[in-house]
Amino acid sequence: MLGREPGPDGPRPDPIDPIELDESMSSSIWVEDVRPPDLEAAGSPRSARAPVRLPRVQTARDEREEHDVATEWGPLQALAGEWASDTGGLDTAFSHAKGKVLGTPYLEKATLKPFGPVDNGDQHLYGLDYKTAMWRGDEQNPFHTEVGYWLWDAATGEVLRGFVVPRGITVLAGGIATADATEFTMRAAQGELQYAIGENTYLAKRASTLSYEVTIQTDGDTWSYQEDTILKMSDLDEPLHHTDANTLRRVS
Ligand code: HEM
Repeated sequence: MLGREPGPDGPRPDPIDPIELDESMSSSIWVEDVRPPDLEAAGSPRSARAPVRLPRVQTARDEREEHDVATEWGPLQALAGEWASDTGGLDTAFSHAKGKVLGTPYLEKATLKPFGPVDNGDQHLYGLDYKTAMWRGDEQNPFHTEVGYWLWDAATGEVLRGFVVPRGITVLAGGIATADATEFTMRAAQGELQYAIGENTYLAKRASTLSYEVTIQTDGDTWSYQEDTILKMSDLDEPLHHTDANTLRRVS
């Protein structure tokens, strides 16, 4: 049940093939110490001090309200919840430690919490407050994190994903979808007026994000994404397709 909290494209270079997998699973750590997700925790027994909840009879009004709440989030409704993956994620990036492009398998834990409406005059947005983190299999600290919001405007079909990557990057990606869509794409590019990317001055010189594109598929108790982030790296002659893909399954 959803809650109501207040709320360059230039020519593409040939893909790097084959990518080399990061077998060592070792690298630098650049975010605070966070323990890896306990994928079993969702099934752990309730605390002995947890309040006792009496069963309640579902009324027609309850059913109507649940339906209204669900439809207000459009295609984002299927994403609400707690999600995790095993090490099925795959990142392709330029590794400074190794001095080459590497493929890195990862596991992920994501939380997407519904809120809304947010009113901008006559515009009424419903969204998901989200955070996600990715780990190399046996490391304690995530090597990538994001925090942000996904937003849905039912009046226009606009779907947005605004987030921060703690390298000093912000992205507001957008696209159009139908309310019942199970697949949709959002894009942002450097210098665009609406769907744009901001970055710090070091990255602008050394590893500038030219564009970002993500396609989402939802399927009940799983959802998947494929991301293509194009970077202009000072170490490389051609723009690099920094790609990420994963399938997450519902843990609660
Ligand atoms: C699942 C999502 C992502 C993962 C797992 C991931 C992971 C990585 C990894 C492993 C590196 C290489 C770091 C190194 O060894 O030096 C990297 C670099 C980088 N990533 Fe990502 N990344 C993700 C998404 C993104 C997104 C969405 C953006 C931007 C919108 C982004 C921007 C960058 C940039 C600019 C660098 C280069 C930093 C540098 O060269 O100094 N990444 N990422």
